[in-house]
Amino acid sequence: MKQGKRVGIVGAGNVGATIAYSLAMLGSCHEIILRDNKIDVARGKALDMSQAASAVRSHTVVKVAESMEELVNCDVVVVTAGSPRLPGMSRDDLLMINANITKEVIEGIAKYSPDAIIIMVSNPLDAMTYVALKESGFERSRVIGMAGILDSSRMAAFIQEKLGYGGGQIRASVMGGHGDDMVPLPRYSTVAGVPLTDVLSENEIAEIVDRTRHGGAEIVGHLKTGSAYYAPAKSTAIMVEAILKDTKQIHPCAVYLEGEYGFSGVVSGVPVMLGANGAEKIIEITLNAAEQEMFKSSCASVEALILTLNKNNFFEGK
Ligand code: LAC
Repeated sequence: MKQGKRVGIVGAGNVGATIAYSLAMLGSCHEIILRDNKIDVARGKALDMSQAASAVRSHTVVKVAESMEELVNCDVVVVTAGSPRLPGMSRDDLLMINANITKEVIEGIAKYSPDAIIIMVSNPLDAMTYVALKESGFERSRVIGMAGILDSSRMAAFIQEKLGYGGGQIRASVMGGHGDDMVPLPRYSTVAGVPLTDVLSENEIAEIVDRTRHGGAEIVGHLKTGSAYYAPAKSTAIMVEAILKDTKQIHPCAVYLEGEYGFSGVVSGVPVMLGANGAEKIIEITLNAAEQEMFKSSCASVEALILTLNKNNFFEGK
């Protein structure tokens, strides 16, 4: 029997488990179901998290699905499954490995949780969101990639570090794909409503933009054996919450574009309104010529990955 909201999480590694933990602490859903090939590890983590939920008087229970078949009737399914990005490896190196994993996972989701909203977290993020959309056959509002919230949070943290004040009051804005050519938007970033350009020099802003673009790699460089997970997980949990609670909040997320910003047939990060039906609305903000150019090259990188998938006949029969 299903009671309350159910969230499935495919991949119970660092990112998946930390998403589950965040959600369990928030108590925003009744059930979280972890799916991982390492079933015993998933079992241990699920028990541990259910106990943590009890400690904070959260009603959320964390369970394990031994196969995709048990990931049934989920309201939201988060996909973190995939090979992680290791030092020296670009997100694109992961393309074919993770496309195949994503394909298999999405087939299961489409079959057992056909009404779910899918949130993609696996890298390369925008291409995997595209794969999930094509493989599921779901409408585009129900297949959303995480990354904009993560990249914006990184930019906000770097702004805070540079300024030395304003923590918790910084709104940073990043659009485009989750790659080195993402599009940080200082013009749309503020500290308590004060434009960034009024409190930082051009050079300081350029440094922040560059550090944001390589924010993931900076952490990989420190961790050595894996990539970031606290901020990626929290960013994902924010999306899940907005959907479950139907908040209609605007967040930067990766979605399939159908003419927005002048692009079609590609996935990229844009501001979207999140609600019970997923990405319910795409917001088109005004970009200047330089920003448009950056957005174009970011889309071109994702298009190149889609082309590689097509050349490998990945979508044959679709
Ligand atoms: C990051 C990698 C995992 O941004 O994409 O942390």
